[in-house]
Amino acid sequence: VPDRLIQALEAAVGERHVLTDAAMTSGYDVDWTGRFRGRSRAVVRPRDLEQVAAVVGACREAGVAVVPQGGNTGLVGGSVPLAGEVVLSLRRLDWLDPVDALACQVTAGAGTSLAALQRHVDASGLAFGVDLGARDSATVGGMAATNAGGLRLLRYGAMRAQVVGVEAVLSDGTVIRHLGGLTKDNTGYDLAGLLCGSEGTLAVITALRLRLVPRYDERVVALLSFSGVRAALDAVAVLRTTLAALEAAELFFEDGLALVCDQLGLRRPFARAYPVYLLVECADRVDPMPLLAAAVEQLAAEDVAVAADGPRRAELWRYREAHTEAINALGPPVKLDVTLPGAALEAFVGEVREVLRTVCPEGRCYLFGHAADGNLHVNVAGAPAEATEVEDVVLNLVASMGGSISAEHGIGTAKRGWLHLNRSKEEIALFATIKRALDPDGILNPNVLLP
Ligand code: FAD
Ligand code: MLT
Ligand code: ZN
Repeated sequence: VPDRLIQALEAAVGERHVLTDAAMTSGYDVDWTGRFRGRSRAVVRPRDLEQVAAVVGACREAGVAVVPQGGNTGLVGGSVPLAGEVVLSLRRLDWLDPVDALACQVTAGAGTSLAALQRHVDASGLAFGVDLGARDSATVGGMAATNAGGLRLLRYGAMRAQVVGVEAVLSDGTVIRHLGGLTKDNTGYDLAGLLCGSEGTLAVITALRLRLVPRYDERVVALLSFSGVRAALDAVAVLRTTLAALEAAELFFEDGLALVCDQLGLRRPFARAYPVYLLVECADRVDPMPLLAAAVEQLAAEDVAVAADGPRRAELWRYREAHTEAINALGPPVKLDVTLPGAALEAFVGEVREVLRTVCPEGRCYLFGHAADGNLHVNVAGAPAEATEVEDVVLNLVASMGGSISAEHGIGTAKRGWLHLNRSKEEIALFATIKRALDPDGILNPNVLLP
């Protein structure tokens, strides 16, 4: 590193917040799964907007690239320095303004964790519409940058639907700010919307104005078992059309449940095993149990476990949420995150297992995901480290069936070679034009998203 850059960074944020020692940077250099690892020139930890702008300006002047990093829970290798970049950690921007109860909105620093946001708005009788398993570490800035989806998307939409305003630092240090939170505001391009899903390639998000939703305290969780995927998807259709209070509909399979129970030492939910499971949650102001019970009567479920009290609800959720950590404990998996049109989902489940048996017989394939969104997580444990064949066959199969190669985790570095499966030459050229306009020197996360 040119020492001048380190000096400029130290002048910007203070010596204590520029980390260069490998022992100090290692946690920032590797992703959550352990699959993507680099070595940063320095990790810089600004505490506010002015410091972020100074850091970006100094890096641009030195011609050194920057990787914005929030909670580092991303699953596509987008938050780690793969080519000696400076890591710009936003975690110290973790402030929260008071909740605006009239507008049902709040303004948050980009480094605020999802859990801290949830606690903050809970006190005002409101809730945040996106929830995900990494809530203790994932930041709202990272969630916007990836347009995170999560466990309640069927009711509230993805991150983009929650973001009503943004403050960000452009690659030349310019600040843009539009945090007024006006619900109706048709004054030109939707810059907040553009930054959602931009994965740190267009600007560094420093603050967000976020929409809030009502807090529903009456909750019921049900775990349903089925003889096959078709029966489970038919059940989702019935639940969606009959239950306005439906908030989650999550799918998993017997092999995943067995792994979770084994790894975490959990008791199995039912006396016997079933091929497919669906975890559903309803939330309302009045007890949703009677309506849920009536709806379940119409389903072809083999067995049902229902929970209304908090601890028991959490126990049922554990079977689904713990998939990520249980699979990772087998070693860094090849993680794919795809959407299929509803009509193709059942066929995809059969075909993806079949093609994986052919190209990677030694791999163990785990499928789980967000059933109502057509979003399946295809995880392959035990595949060779450089197994691009696995990605290649699965992503080509997805595209051939009209699906998306990234449902909610983003493209990152992991999927950039396959972007052409979903985006035309013309679209990718337009992406590049937008990138050049906002980041002409290419210093913002250059190893991510664009092929
Ligand atoms: P990071 O991992 O730090 O960064 C992610 C990307 O955003 C990188 O490209 C980075 O450069 C960029 N970035 C981060 N902060 C900023 C910023 N302030 N400005 C500009 N760019 C920035 N994802 C889902 O969508 N749904 C789920 O259900 C879900 N469940 C998960 C469960 C577990 C157990 C884990 C480990 C992950 C899960 N994820 C899920 C993935 C992950 O939590 C999300 O992608 C989350 O949005 C990442 O937030 P982060 O703060 O950790 O971002
Ligand atoms: C989930 O739905 O649990 C997350 O997206 C994490 C994962 O895919 O492992
Ligand atoms: Zn998911």
